[in-house]
Amino acid sequence: MAKSHSRFVCQSCGDAFLRWEGQCRTCEAWNTLVETVVREPARAGRSPSTSVVLAGRGAPEPLRSIAEADIPRLSVGIGELDRVLGGGLVPGSLVLLSGEPGIGKSTLLLQAAAGVAARVGPSGGHVLYATGEESSGQVRLRASRLGLLDGPAGEAVRVVPESEIGRIVELARTERPGLVIVDSIQTATVDDLDGPAGSVGQVRESALRLMELAKGDGIAVVLVGHVTKDGTIAGPKTLEHVVDAVLGLEGDRSAGLRLLRASKNRFGSTEEVGVFEMGEHGLDELTDPARAFLVEHDGAAPGSVVAPTLEGSRPLLVEVQALVAPVSYGTPRRTGVGIDPNRLALLVAVLGRRAGIGLGSHDVYANLAGGLSLEEPGLDLPLALALASSLRDRPVRPATVAIGEVGLLGELRSVTGLERRLREAARLGFVRAIVPRSARGGPPPVVDGLDVLAVGTLREAIGVALETDSRSPAMLV
Ligand code: TYD
Ligand code: MG
Repeated sequence: MAKSHSRFVCQSCGDAFLRWEGQCRTCEAWNTLVETVVREPARAGRSPSTSVVLAGRGAPEPLRSIAEADIPRLSVGIGELDRVLGGGLVPGSLVLLSGEPGIGKSTLLLQAAAGVAARVGPSGGHVLYATGEESSGQVRLRASRLGLLDGPAGEAVRVVPESEIGRIVELARTERPGLVIVDSIQTATVDDLDGPAGSVGQVRESALRLMELAKGDGIAVVLVGHVTKDGTIAGPKTLEHVVDAVLGLEGDRSAGLRLLRASKNRFGSTEEVGVFEMGEHGLDELTDPARAFLVEHDGAAPGSVVAPTLEGSRPLLVEVQALVAPVSYGTPRRTGVGIDPNRLALLVAVLGRRAGIGLGSHDVYANLAGGLSLEEPGLDLPLALALASSLRDRPVRPATVAIGEVGLLGELRSVTGLERRLREAARLGFVRAIVPRSARGGPPPVVDGLDVLAVGTLREAIGVALETDSRSPAMLV
């Protein structure tokens, strides 16, 4: 293989230099030069991100006469993962699975490898599992814990403790597996490059070469990438442009539930979520996850409100919890886990100014049960109600759900898919829902078994949610 030459490319402006310097001479940014392999012009002609179905070149064609692409799919045998992928892995695609360390990425991929092995059969191909993080022995230990050693995976999943991408690519070209797993991109290196594993240059170059392998040889390649809680590690972020799909595995490491989401998918929707539970024998799919994130209480507790959220096309009922306590010292704290802290601060302000719930001298803590993390505008109302309920030390009426966005004036705005959310709440035994009044003045959705209370403002919603049934029987239906 011809030795490629390298340049130092500024990560800020993209200019390239022959030598490393502390400051980019073009844009004057500091510490942005990263050693990068420069490709031969002949190879550079084909963009590495060219998707497999678009690989052919020729004269422009009218849209209608283009033959329909029949994208083949390689099922991984795990329904939830197949669904998030858009129906299975696409041969020739590069997929990034990202998540915090210890969340279960290696576990999920080993299970997926076993699923592929079971499908393609002993003769049809196999899976190459390149591990740079763990020894082969550790992978075997996990496989035995997952009960995979005696199945087809015991033979068809080939493990190699290797992190140099050139050798992994070579191995893949000679062994011709149907699926290559590289665990992880942070440990991957390319021999031609000097930078340490995990540096932006190594990460990018490794990914580009794996992309070439995927596209050139029609092999599905899955990469593992670690991200920290705030997602700051440069590696996986710069990778997102290169790969065909980015899947994220999230959840609370101590809690068992895991959510798998696609944040990018060239071969499917990014709407779908997969829900898993980490158990003794790996990740189990939860095919009816709607109630998975609800906590069982003996009675209604102040500060707890259930929200019918919608993740992609899937309704999930989630418990929002809040605790407010008088400030003991210094400035009041506002702590949100799984909730956008800016939204929390804003709601505290709106509650104070528009709904008579003053939290200026209180510490505020809020989180979603089950270690879930959601960016859903509709969580505003349940969160605000949970805060009000905690301050008043009065539980929200039993078997009640609430959903809606809160505006700066304390007005409520509707959310998408309201009827779907409410139907799910009714199915799980809730009898009352507090929802925003429709802006167009129409009636709220009618859902069997659910008393839907449409309100216009946050103040009204608090009134409805916290009133005790005995004090105001007129409101009962
Ligand atoms: P792992 O897949 O190694 O995480 P990652 O590759 O994302 O760093 O899984 C880590 C955790 O999962 C580990 O703390 C142990 C736990 N685990 C189970 O609870 N059950 C199991 O069957 C397995 C294999 C792991
Ligand atoms: Mg791992």
